[in-house]
Amino acid sequence: MTDLHTHILPGIDDGAKNIEQSIQLLKAEIATGVNQIAFTPHFYFERQLPDDFLKAREQSHQRLMQEAERQGLRFQGKLAAELFFSTGLTQLDLKQFCIEGTNYLLMEFSMRPDISLIEDVLFDILGEGFIPILAHVERYHFLMDNPELLEKWIHQGVLIQVNAGSLLKKGKTNKFLRKLIQWGMVHIISSDVHSLDRRPPNLAEGMAELKKYQNRLEQNADRVFQGKFFRIDPPYTPKKRFGIWM
Ligand SMILES: [Fe+2]
Repeated sequence: MTDLHTHILPGIDDGAKNIEQSIQLLKAEIATGVNQIAFTPHFYFERQLPDDFLKAREQSHQRLMQEAERQGLRFQGKLAAELFFSTGLTQLDLKQFCIEGTNYLLMEFSMRPDISLIEDVLFDILGEGFIPILAHVERYHFLMDNPELLEKWIHQGVLIQVNAGSLLKKGKTNKFLRKLIQWGMVHIISSDVHSLDRRPPNLAEGMAELKKYQNRLEQNADRVFQGKFFRIDPPYTPKKRFGIWM
């Protein structure tokens, strides 16, 4: 299995604090069948200098790979990032933030963003040949309340990611995510692992909830990791009836 959204690199963001925690997380990922991992530390354009981030990420990655090798852990890792939305993103050399060797770019937003600003930047990024992956879509009310917007973005080429943990919690969000999956509006499931207890390595557990969609979603993640392009089927167009999307 392939985990495209993880905070395993030591000491670089709010994920693993040190090498011991990173190794614990890696071992847990491998034990549950994950063998391809994108390391996606947070990057905040408005708070960090890109070069500082890239240097810190490189050092943290080297440290992790040395220790993983010493302990004989077998997996394939790729450097990547989780970009917090900013209009400044278009000034960056985005290739350095993509999943290594691919054009796939993991992005997140604030909770109440300016939608037209987001669209300007998203469509600019798409125009440059990058493929944005929208991280943990379930967090954004402005999208969960408005799947038509999601449909529009998917048509433009944006991929949608959901956290495995959200498929494991019972409730309204879980129910709606299952609709989104049925409608072809979810392309990637990842763990967004931060620590063993807070957001644990639960990709396999989340995937097991998906039944007939599991194979396709696992394949999608593998294709992204390999940098392969894949055709996204047009999603179903949801309709709102009696206040409910169906
Ligand atoms: Fe994340």
